[in-house]
Amino acid sequence: MSNVFVLDHPLIQHKLTYIRSKDTGTKEFRALVEEVSTLMAFEITRDLPLEEITIDTPVTTAKTKVLSGKKIGIIPILRAGLGMVDGMLNLIPAAKVGHVGLYRDPETLQPVEYYLKLPGDIHERELIVVDPMLATGGSASDAIDSLKKRGAEHIKLMCLLAAPEGVEKVQQDHPDVDIYLGALDERLNEKGYIIPGLGDAGDRLFGTK
Ligand code: URA
Repeated sequence: MSNVFVLDHPLIQHKLTYIRSKDTGTKEFRALVEEVSTLMAFEITRDLPLEEITIDTPVTTAKTKVLSGKKIGIIPILRAGLGMVDGMLNLIPAAKVGHVGLYRDPETLQPVEYYLKLPGDIHERELIVVDPMLATGGSASDAIDSLKKRGAEHIKLMCLLAAPEGVEKVQQDHPDVDIYLGALDERLNEKGYIIPGLGDAGDRLFGTK
């Protein structure tokens, strides 16, 4: 089973409170999502491998460390995932960004990719799939399927909030994918909203209804 990590840093929890509040307007909501994404990026990159190199400082020669291993790809699930990209790029500016847009065909119930544009070398990258809300887990699981079909091997999933139902779905479908959350909420309601949640993340990010 995939591991689930709740990144309960005080700054993340504090900012999530204002993200959840219905009194937070679009501009502030967007800024807070970016800030929390940066903080989560810091935590999610904790296990990146390092290698030692030798450099000259102005006063001596020193052995010091740089990142080694796989390069990173950030994969927002459209549309709400877009709100998390800039926050992550603040810390990982050299990451490549791919986009996945999916919906379920109401008749066949099969996922339809209406948009997919990925870095050419995804099989060589550590991919971080981002979506603010892990609700039923359907979109995240389908997006991860799309990436695996195209050769991705190392995938993490990062969400601001999740319902237990969504976590279970991704764990079942993708036991190799670790899941990083800002908070694990109580449940989904009958309309598929996370409770207590934050409402519709896409609408709140982009000021739509
Ligand atoms: N997507 C959202 O934006 N919000 C939810 O609560 C569930 C899914």
